[in-house]
Amino acid sequence: MPKRSTGPKGRVALVHALAHIELNAVDLAWDIIARFAGADLPRKFFGDWVDVAEEEAEHYRDLAQRLTGLGISYGDLPAHDGLWEAATLTADDLLARLALIPMTLEARGLDTTPMTCVKLRGNNDEATALILDRIYTDEIKHLEIGVRWFEFECARQGHSPHTHYKALVDARFTGTLKPPFNMEARNMARMGQVYLIPWMH
Ligand SMILES: [Fe+2]
Ligand SMILES: [Fe+2]
Repeated sequence: MPKRSTGPKGRVALVHALAHIELNAVDLAWDIIARFAGADLPRKFFGDWVDVAEEEAEHYRDLAQRLTGLGISYGDLPAHDGLWEAATLTADDLLARLALIPMTLEARGLDTTPMTCVKLRGNNDEATALILDRIYTDEIKHLEIGVRWFEFECARQGHSPHTHYKALVDARFTGTLKPPFNMEARNMARMGQVYLIPWMH
């Protein structure tokens, strides 16, 4: 995998990796709609993910345009398959899908993006930093949507959300969940600290 960094050498690889994540996010938003269409969920569930799909498409577009500005196109570099792997591992269970994709992997992006923006600005890359600022704001909304529907479905199935989140991450997440967590962003998305206590030491 080409080495990513916020400096001039790794910049193209970084923006390419982020564009790849956003393109996967477009597919994942439509996937949750189609895959769980028969799950007797309120109409609002589907509307929320249509809104997410639209924003993910805009994130992809902005990063793909930035790549063009840097002299390459999306697809010119190899890319990680982690997001799609997590999607495959959670194709059978809506709660597992919500726990792993928005509440673990997208939330991870909230932990790392502010520092990435600081470093990009330190390297005079305002253009990329501005795109990531916008993505960051939208991803807080996506996490809030994920948490809200996770708690809705937990209530319906009689699970305690915090305990069940831990159980699903332990059973299905192949990565590691590790601090520091961006609690400011997570709190704005109503994913309180209680969810993360098992990983906070
Ligand atoms: Fe996004
Ligand atoms: Fe998102």
